[in-house]
Amino acid sequence: MRMVDVIAKKRDGGKLTAEEIKFFIQGYTRGAIPDYQASSLAMAIYFQDMDDDERADLTMAMVESGDQIDLSEIEGIKVDKHSTGGVGDTTTLVLAPLVAALDIPVAKMSGRGLGHTGGTIDKLEAVEGFHVEISDEEFVRLVNEDKVAVIGQTGNLTPADKKLYALRDVTGTVNSIPLIASSIMSKKIAAGSDAIVLDVKTGAGAFMKTDEEAEKLAHAMVKIGNNVGRRTMAIISDMSQPLGYAIGNALEVKEAIETLRGEGPEDLTELVLTLGSQMVVLGGGAKTLEEAREKLQDVIDNGQALEKFRTFLTNQGGNGDVVDDVTLLPQASYKIEVPARQTGTVSSIVADEIGIASMLLGAGRATKEDVIDLAVGLMLRKKVGDKVEEGESLVTIYANREDVEEVKNKIYDNIEISDAAQAPKLIHTII
Ligand code: URA
Ligand code: CA
Repeated sequence: MRMVDVIAKKRDGGKLTAEEIKFFIQGYTRGAIPDYQASSLAMAIYFQDMDDDERADLTMAMVESGDQIDLSEIEGIKVDKHSTGGVGDTTTLVLAPLVAALDIPVAKMSGRGLGHTGGTIDKLEAVEGFHVEISDEEFVRLVNEDKVAVIGQTGNLTPADKKLYALRDVTGTVNSIPLIASSIMSKKIAAGSDAIVLDVKTGAGAFMKTDEEAEKLAHAMVKIGNNVGRRTMAIISDMSQPLGYAIGNALEVKEAIETLRGEGPEDLTELVLTLGSQMVVLGGGAKTLEEAREKLQDVIDNGQALEKFRTFLTNQGGNGDVVDDVTLLPQASYKIEVPARQTGTVSSIVADEIGIASMLLGAGRATKEDVIDLAVGLMLRKKVGDKVEEGESLVTIYANREDVEEVKNKIYDNIEISDAAQAPKLIHTII
């Protein structure tokens, strides 16, 4: 087989066979196929698209390009959740113990934050002593015993995707539904779960800026998952403004604890119950989404979800007392209010820019090597649709330095106040 023939076939709108796709992925991973041919094929796919078979074949070829996590030692149906990335997205911290409280195993592999989005591991490390450096054996044991554990990315997962994603980034081929869908799904499948729930974000803070694009991506991923034997569901949710009120690591742990107690922000609570219901249904814990939701509400109301969070933190070296006393979390030295400059209704809070404002305080990383400050971040005091009086606080800045002018300016530039506005709909579609 010659790579040039594979490229020409796709360029002319042909359908690639599983063998041709494997030939490309294996050759590219090994270094036998050069970047210029891979980028040429990526561009051909960008313009000619791929059908369902090709998408499934591409996904599995990337899964098989590296290690795959074997979770077969864990009893039950392992359901994973993936979000396409947002700002102040505290859902995993809440979902993991919540779903586990219903005895659905949550064996989560998580990452760290980069750019305007935070990472689950960084957030959890705001709890003193908590760590994700546990052995595979320990990981399996904890999930079997207590139904929940989080581990950092281990092994050489989907090297083909790493290489291809980096190439796409510099060749104008990131924004292609078959390439994005196979990229995301290959990582989830290699991570070993039996079923997958996807939270596809739409809006300013999201990868997909419109509902139409987000729905296309969600349908593509659900199809791939189901075609390769992993039951998959998805929702489209709003990321035009940050989720909940807290943005920043310790602040989000506090918000997660409040949500597990049933006292969290309305939007975060709603998102968690929606995604959680899908996880519980896929995990065999309920027949319908309605039944699942009732069960989740029960473990919030009776305190079992919060107790599960304590157990989970303690199991991985963390100080579980934080669930009773959030002042044990790292505290910032300065709290600085950002007062509204006019009276009106908040009409937009640009999620990605607010995420960057939090990063500037030290809550996130501009580069992979940056060390983050777990205590700092932002607490929104108003969300879109809320009325505000001149002088009332829009945001509280939690900082470890006094000079936050740059952050303040970024906040003013990205929170708009108008005469009238409505809160955006949180859940756009359930797929
Ligand atoms: N995120 C991914 O993991 N892959 C893509 O291709 C795009 C976003
Ligand atoms: Ca939040």
